[in-house]
Amino acid sequence: MTAPFIPPVARQQKPVKVEPVFAQVSRAQLSQIPGRRGLPVFGILPEAVAAPRAFTRRMYDRYGPVHRFYACGNWNVQLVGPEANEFVLFDREGNFSSYGGWKPVFGRHFDGGLLLRDGDDHQWHRKLVAYAFKQEQLQAYLDIFSDNMKVLLKRWSERVLESYELAQELTFANGYAAFLGRDARFATRNDLLAFRYLMGSSTSIVTMPFPGNSEWRARWAKRHVEELIRPMLSETPAAERMDLLAVLVRMKQDGQLEDEEIIAHLTFVIAASYDTLSSATVSTLYYLAKHPEWQDEVRSELLANIINPTEIALADLQKCEKVEWVVKEALRLNAAAPVLWRRATRDLEFQGHTIPSGTLTGVNPMLTHLLPEVWGDPEEFRPSRFAPEESRERHRFAFVPFGGGAHGCIGANYAYLQIRTLLRHLLEEHEVVLTSDREPRWYHWPNCRPLGQLPIKLKKL
Ligand code: HEM
Repeated sequence: MTAPFIPPVARQQKPVKVEPVFAQVSRAQLSQIPGRRGLPVFGILPEAVAAPRAFTRRMYDRYGPVHRFYACGNWNVQLVGPEANEFVLFDREGNFSSYGGWKPVFGRHFDGGLLLRDGDDHQWHRKLVAYAFKQEQLQAYLDIFSDNMKVLLKRWSERVLESYELAQELTFANGYAAFLGRDARFATRNDLLAFRYLMGSSTSIVTMPFPGNSEWRARWAKRHVEELIRPMLSETPAAERMDLLAVLVRMKQDGQLEDEEIIAHLTFVIAASYDTLSSATVSTLYYLAKHPEWQDEVRSELLANIINPTEIALADLQKCEKVEWVVKEALRLNAAAPVLWRRATRDLEFQGHTIPSGTLTGVNPMLTHLLPEVWGDPEEFRPSRFAPEESRERHRFAFVPFGGGAHGCIGANYAYLQIRTLLRHLLEEHEVVLTSDREPRWYHWPNCRPLGQLPIKLKKL
């Protein structure tokens, strides 16, 4: 019998979680940075929420790559461009706190998740969660993706479908099975709704619960998710299981993790994968439908490299580089995570500006991915810009859909694999077509998604 896997991190001293307190930064401290306050009380919030991408572009055009604005009781500084991304994300000195930056967004319902941890504490927990994303585990996830795809594709074939709903259903089924080690058929509609409500409430302006508002729904959702996960924590996972739940439960049995910490990790990982990956999936499907020539390229590549879709080998899927270019180009045009937040832990200098300690500081993949000086014809869909010969000279922080540095996305490989598996199954016998000529309106906060409907049809070839 194989011995159950206990992560080596269990042998390291577990650091204490520190929750730094930050001083409020005043307008006077930021006066050397160009920008504006906006409306009394709300600041720029109404215009930023109404059209996040147009707002960021206006600020960039008017004030440049380093600017300030006021929102939700705080002055914020936003930095745009590859150098800014490197400065903030590739932060070896601990100049920025992810906990401080993300707390106003995720703090109410995702406290204890990886993005809400810093320093040694973050590293310890990250090493632990990373065991669920090692190569052998990714291969196991591939089989789960394939099984779920077969079931869903039977239902979707020849039907007009709302693309974002389709993407969410797939991503949730895969996440549920992969991270909880459960058959996705046991997932209920309420389980899915709970994660939708939790993410939905992260950006609500009203943080008090009132019957029917988003905070009210989020509190129900939090209770629901806890009741879903808690009973699973008293089971002993089979020795061969390496999914996230199994790894974390073994750490609990080893005396290293509390139930609350496990619930926090699972909730955050499932939620973090759910919205971003749905966003990437829907963008990819949309651009493939809009550019049938690329759909044909992708189909040929997938069918040539993976003969039998019921036995997909990780290595074969990873050979499909054109599929990867397409997904990257979709993520460039529609960054699934448009803004990444941090809080300065000390006074810093960037491009001649002082960023005082405590400043809420955002970097903006959404706009960086559209800068003409970096991309040339940035609005054009041209996946070949990710071919090695074209990307070689580009700044390594020009393309950051998954962030970078210590908090860089832990699920990036998982995300690429899920989309590649979806396309392998889908394109074998189907063509993705748009059923409306209307251009979709993309909305970019907290994740990118189509505003209103974006129907597609999976037409039999
Ligand atoms: C296309 C899909 C995805 C995109 C665009 C995306 C994007 C990102 C970004 C930009 C970050 C960094 C945030 C920051 O630095 O502030 C991040 C972190 C993270 N992502 Fe993803 N993500 C995706 C899919 C996933 C999936 C599938 C999972 C889980 C399987 C996942 C789990 C996480 C976690 C746990 C973190 C926090 C890592 C840490 O703080 O150490 N993401 N993601």
